[in-house]
Amino acid sequence: VRLAVLFGGRSGEHEVSRRSAESILAHLDRDTYDVTEVLIERDGQWRVDGDRATFAQALRSLGGQDVVFPALHGPYGEDGTVQSMLEWLGVAFVGNGVFASAAGMDKPVTKKLLAADGLRVAAGVTLRPDEELSSRDQERLGLPVFVKPARAGSSLGVSKVEQWAQLPAALRLARESDAKVLVERAVRGREIDVGVLQHPDGRVEAGPPLEIRVANAAFFDYDAKYDGGAVFHIPAQLDPGTTRLLQDRAVQAFHALGCRGLLRVDFFLPDRDADHGTGWTGDYREPVINEVNTFPGFTAASQYPQIWQRAGVGYSALLDILIQGALH
Ligand code: DAL
Ligand code: MG
Repeated sequence: VRLAVLFGGRSGEHEVSRRSAESILAHLDRDTYDVTEVLIERDGQWRVDGDRATFAQALRSLGGQDVVFPALHGPYGEDGTVQSMLEWLGVAFVGNGVFASAAGMDKPVTKKLLAADGLRVAAGVTLRPDEELSSRDQERLGLPVFVKPARAGSSLGVSKVEQWAQLPAALRLARESDAKVLVERAVRGREIDVGVLQHPDGRVEAGPPLEIRVANAAFFDYDAKYDGGAVFHIPAQLDPGTTRLLQDRAVQAFHALGCRGLLRVDFFLPDRDADHGTGWTGDYREPVINEVNTFPGFTAASQYPQIWQRAGVGYSALLDILIQGALH
């Protein structure tokens, strides 16, 4: 199978993508796959198997593959732009298509689609350029809040605001990544990720929930994500009903966004005593979806491959499933 791994990219997650690709390249069975490495440099220049290439040359190389594996995170890669290019080339590619990628990259849009499908999301306000958070919204959201660029990943540009005096600096930081910003009520509770995988026969499966425990940071920020500042518990210690609920909600989110191949859904399971207006019904707590990742991190330290490893699907087998699904 002729396969190109496409990585790097122009987003703030360039380095993360390189690390994801490094792991992917190390786990691809070379007897099965004839691999081409296609790198997009930070400035948008292309390299094919290490050699400088024009855009036209890179497109010819991608178009000549049986399948392309886009291992890109963030804008210009995980947001539908590259997926659109691959559609135009008529080449099969791994993972989510144009719509799910674009919708999943934009946090306010994701929230609207999920909420419309009955899924729970945290209260939030989207601010356009030059827009301030009204005092009415400050009162409604309460402290602390998270301030996030609408379209970014790996927590780049995200701050936790404990006092309103910190808000202007948090907005400035978020706006360095995206002019559109989300201010969101912080949900007090456990942070749990669920990986969703689609098998080549179309069957959609959720893996064992993973709990993130952050040691020395205010939240699971960039450093905690990639410098070992967090510990993962797989499976998370949960009663069977809550585990099933999280898995059902994750699969529901996968379908609500029109996903294909894979998705990682990041939840908060609200504390019982925390009334954030998130509420719960009956004797279970309704999980709150924090965000989704249409191409979650694939580095050695990342949650998604570890979740499937724990479910008995090793890294190489996971790649085979995703690639077979794309070729179907
Ligand atoms: N956006 C990063 C790669 C993640 O969520 O894993
Ligand atoms: Mg996340």
